[in-house]
Amino acid sequence: MFRNIRVVTEPDYDAMSRAAAEIFAEALKEKPNGVYGFATGGTPVGMYKELISMAEASEIDFSQVTTFNLDEYHPINPDDPQSYIYFMRQNLFNAVGLKDSQINIPNGTAADPVAECAAYEDKILNAGGIDLQILGIGNNGHIGFNEPSEAFTAQTNYTALTEMTVKANARFFNNADEVPKHAITMGIRSIMLAKRILLLCGGEGKASILHDALLGPITPLVPASILQTHPNVTVVTDKAAAALL
Ligand code: GLP
Repeated sequence: MFRNIRVVTEPDYDAMSRAAAEIFAEALKEKPNGVYGFATGGTPVGMYKELISMAEASEIDFSQVTTFNLDEYHPINPDDPQSYIYFMRQNLFNAVGLKDSQINIPNGTAADPVAECAAYEDKILNAGGIDLQILGIGNNGHIGFNEPSEAFTAQTNYTALTEMTVKANARFFNNADEVPKHAITMGIRSIMLAKRILLLCGGEGKASILHDALLGPITPLVPASILQTHPNVTVVTDKAAAALL
């Protein structure tokens, strides 16, 4: 139906978050020492809450995992509440007891962001690649911070954010001027090398882009459309976002 993509549609955000957490939990139980890729943004917060509850109830155990995050703003300080490392610590890592040695995220303070990209890509490869990558999707179809453009990116890259993304992310800052204008993000190839991908997408505002990503042409103008060529993608969505599928 959606080419290779399995779509799980739940009635609302809470149900979607639970369903996504259950899929993640199954994968974690199957491979407790796996490599898991995480995403930021508002969408996965509900799933992270569910995972915290499961860990507190000792249903799942993060003690052996290695994690990689998709992206980080640049420049940004790790103790800036808007940094993605801060976000991950607040919304998941601290509560499930992850140690620093288990956490990988691009360094928002790297003096040479291009060198940081190459080093990050090597870290993923040296860890044996990502077993399960969580993704959100931007309003413009970006995944990580791979923005719409003339060509798909390959490896982890240092990128300028589009005006649309700066505006969309301004809701987390005092105003758009405070949003960093660059980021370090896993590339499309880095994401596509994940053995399995779990994309979360909720809300009516995402209905049109989700349609384009899953059913439209595979084009770098909608970076998420490349997922149609991945052999193991599950999309967990709510009714509102699935309205045009
Ligand atoms: C950010 C992140 C993406 C995320 C997207 C959607 O820009 N870099 O990884 O998927 O926004 O965010 P939200 O879930 O808040 O809509």
